[in-house]
Amino acid sequence: MLSNNPFSILSETISPFAMQSFIIAMVLMIAIGTIIQMIHHKNLTYFFNNAKKAKLSATKKLGVGEKASIIAKTTVVDIGTTSELGFGKRRLAHVLGMYGTILFWISSVVLVFSYTGLDKPNSETWSILWHAGAILTCIGGYWFWFFLRVDVSAEAHPWYRIIKADLFVLALLACATFGLAWSYTQFNGQIGLSFLFLMLFVAANLILFGGVYWSKFAHMFYKPGAAIQKNLAEADGSRDNLPPPADAPEQFGLGIKREEPKHY
Ligand code: HEM
Repeated sequence: MLSNNPFSILSETISPFAMQSFIIAMVLMIAIGTIIQMIHHKNLTYFFNNAKKAKLSATKKLGVGEKASIIAKTTVVDIGTTSELGFGKRRLAHVLGMYGTILFWISSVVLVFSYTGLDKPNSETWSILWHAGAILTCIGGYWFWFFLRVDVSAEAHPWYRIIKADLFVLALLACATFGLAWSYTQFNGQIGLSFLFLMLFVAANLILFGGVYWSKFAHMFYKPGAAIQKNLAEADGSRDNLPPPADAPEQFGLGIKREEPKHY
């Protein structure tokens, strides 16, 4: 099953052009949802105003090379490993889900555009990557959902309590889970079930990409922007208008040792 391209078998009933158009429509929905969210929430305006204000208190002018090196380092370390989540389960779960999703999306595009259709070759590698991406998304996502979510791990709410903020993680998990279930049932020739899971897979994608405006989807664009801005502000001395760390010993009293800090 893992080396099977489910889109290729689907192309016997649905044209590859329809599948390609679906992917293009999803990309457009991401762009539209993110832009409307930025306009409504005014987060981009806030971000640029803040950066402009901070620039005034900069103590050092950064050269192009210095800026490029800070951006490259931030991309590899802070963004590539989601370092703001500290060291621990939360970060590991996020990294698994993040790279799983990126792999799932890239391989979906490659499979549909290059390996689906009558005259198209087969690629076992890309099919395996598609399944691996979905499996990694499920491992990271379900770990987060059942055990690490703040509502569950810190606020003692049951795992089945669902609020609007869960739209993103649940839609993401539904995509990966129904995608795998569709591929499995299709491979085993269970026509009825495979049609059902395909419909659920399509619906989950429509909710995930159609819900960008209402969900946390766009954090994958905002977070990298904020990390780069923070590190540039650190290097040019403006520190986002925050005071420098106090030049004093870190004495917090014994109370700080009572409970391990958690990184939310
Ligand atoms: C394809 C890219 C990404 C995917 C699929 C992804 C996925 C997720 C998911 C499913 C959540 C849980 C959302 C929730 O609270 O319900 C989350 C939270 C979070 N993400 Fe991402 N993310 C991506 C990129 C990024 C990037 C690039 C950063 C930072 C540079 C980032 C930082 C965070 C942080 C700080 C949280 C809160 C985590 C927590 O509460 O434990 N994410 N992400």
